[in-house]
Amino acid sequence: MQTLTVKRSSRLSGFYRQSPERRRTRLVESRWLSPEEAESCAGLAGFDEACADAMVENVVGLHGLPLGLALNFVVNGEDRLVPMAVEEPSIIAAASYAARLCAEGGGFSVTADAPITTAQVQLLDVPSLIAAEAALRTNTAELLAEANGYLGAMCARGGGARELEVRVLDGTTLVVHLHVDTRDAMGANLVNSLAEKMAPQLAALTGGRAGLKILTNLADRRKVYVRATVPAAALAFEGFPDGEAVRDAILEGQLFAEMDPYRAVTHNKGVMNGVDAVLVACGNDWRAVEAGAHAYASRSGVYRPLTSWKKGPAGELVGLLEMPLATSTVGGAARTHPGVRRALKLARVESAVDLAGLAAAAGLATNLAALKALGTEGIQKGHMALHARRVAAEVGAEGELVEIVAERLARERIYRPERAREILAEEVRRKEAAR
Ligand code: MEV
Repeated sequence: MQTLTVKRSSRLSGFYRQSPERRRTRLVESRWLSPEEAESCAGLAGFDEACADAMVENVVGLHGLPLGLALNFVVNGEDRLVPMAVEEPSIIAAASYAARLCAEGGGFSVTADAPITTAQVQLLDVPSLIAAEAALRTNTAELLAEANGYLGAMCARGGGARELEVRVLDGTTLVVHLHVDTRDAMGANLVNSLAEKMAPQLAALTGGRAGLKILTNLADRRKVYVRATVPAAALAFEGFPDGEAVRDAILEGQLFAEMDPYRAVTHNKGVMNGVDAVLVACGNDWRAVEAGAHAYASRSGVYRPLTSWKKGPAGELVGLLEMPLATSTVGGAARTHPGVRRALKLARVESAVDLAGLAAAAGLATNLAALKALGTEGIQKGHMALHARRVAAEVGAEGELVEIVAERLARERIYRPERAREILAEEVRRKEAAR
């Protein structure tokens, strides 16, 4: 039997103007979802109080966030929809816009390290650091074998303990790192348990006393690397017809972040806008990723941007993002939260490493959109245009009237609902008169 590969496009024109119901129908028409899956997308996707009560403590209700899709993403040659759950307006629009620019240069190229999560075991009051280090090195193979003895199920899935590293913290304190391939799990519980099981043996070998046993969120063995290029001509837009000038403005913004930690933090916040929104939609531990990202940004001793934008040999804009990104597609919320399963399905996520790549591509995209807006017309114009659409919808505008009312509000720079109501009434009258 011949297997047909379904080619789907992540470019769904006019999507942003449609109603959530119509958007779900488009997802069925464009073969991203089956009709049943699309139907189950509506609302909380089956997430109820019983699910919530099984997840956390003292539940008294549910708390919702919008789930949107960033479009136009081509990742390693494949079209992808990028689910984002976020409270801040304009992030999803910004990601979709920048992804379209990157698609002009062939999309995002993503590579990633193996999914290594690292446990730390603190060893205090070590009588001789030299002897302790020697003992740990001599026994590394046995210790890794012992660790893998505790990780039977993970080893069966292709993961397991890979490396034992020793670091000296002061004259009597060591820390042992157990680097574990946790496959599609983030692996926090797994490596924390492993650290607790291994600690007595490590203490005995070093003559020290075991202190804390916990993973590190500086997941620098679990990095992701994203690259995208945008031809300079693609950067031109209304009011800014010179793409090379727009590129140069983006490069100036990059330089600012490289020279000033105050700017670098905001630059990286723009990266995390994309990364976190994907992680939240996919039920991942975004606090862990945030902590690791900012520590990684400071690794040189100075807080620096996580992305770099440069001019390529043909004058194109070349962007890179490198950051630790520990993700999971199994266990945790992926098991208990139906909305998370829906998001993973929408994104057609194949593995934790794949999810990390998608989140990072979203981060590079939101960073590009911010730099482009900041270097040209400023960030507020786009924000206010989206705000105008919201006000128009709030006062009852539907279909094409949302755009018409929003455009007039933005032109007048008045965003009050009373004015939106007046404009809507005028436009409705105009439409009726034209019939
Ligand atoms: C706002 O959420 C994010 C930005 O501040 C990022 C940036 O300044 O690069 C626009």
